Amino acid sequence: MEKKVIIAIDGYSSTGKSTVARQLAKKLGYIYVDTGAMYRAVTLYAMQHNFIDQSHFDKEALEQSLSLINIRFEVNSDTGLAEVVLNNKNVEKEIRTLEVSKLVSPVAAISMVRKKLVEQQQLMGKDSGIVMDGRDIGTVVFPDAELKLFMTATAKDRAERRYKELLERGEDVTYEDVLKNVVNRDHIDSTRKDSPLRKAEDAIEIDNSNLTLVEQFEQILAIAKKVIAK
Ligand code: DC
Repeated sequence: MEKKVIIAIDGYSSTGKSTVARQLAKKLGYIYVDTGAMYRAVTLYAMQHNFIDQSHFDKEALEQSLSLINIRFEVNSDTGLAEVVLNNKNVEKEIRTLEVSKLVSPVAAISMVRKKLVEQQQLMGKDSGIVMDGRDIGTVVFPDAELKLFMTATAKDRAERRYKELLERGEDVTYEDVLKNVVNRDHIDSTRKDSPLRKAEDAIEIDNSNLTLVEQFEQILAIAKKVIAK
């Protein structure tokens, strides 16, 4: 039987990590876990309980409520994709808004939040055969992952992709606002004290600024196949 491995994909926001991770998992018959969605779900909970908005953040209130937050994934039978469920409610749509994107980085900087989600992520990967994307997968969640990828692209390219995506979903946003959010999140995610975004020493860096989705997928699939065959 073919060996099953853990594939960790990290990188800046909107580098297309989730697209390639999803494609890879499908092709290899692996489970795909979008860890950003879990941080987004905690952020949505904090918003719903008025712990956070643009002008204030009651970190203690969120920390004290962590045991009440249950996050799981369920597969949408129409699309075959895993969607996020927060306290038994599917919130896949709500967590993808620009409003959540604007508040998620400070929430993800809280150590107690990270501890809870990292433990859950490690359990999900205990049997291998998993593709997980995020910011700290190769450095903290699975430092021994057989394959680590680190995705980059220019902020302009990433903001353009994200802007198109949000428009397609019917959100009323400006390009400037999306670019500001991408740059701001990069800054908070890579300068926070706990598990800052950085490339693991043994990660392979993929700059996809000038790659089509097909080129990127073929390049990464070839790398993954080599690692699995080893
Ligand atoms: O991948 P994303 O844009 O959906 O992630 C949302 C935020 O969650 C991102 O700005 C940083 C945080 N995050 C994190 O800190 N660690 C992860 N493993 C995944 C996401």
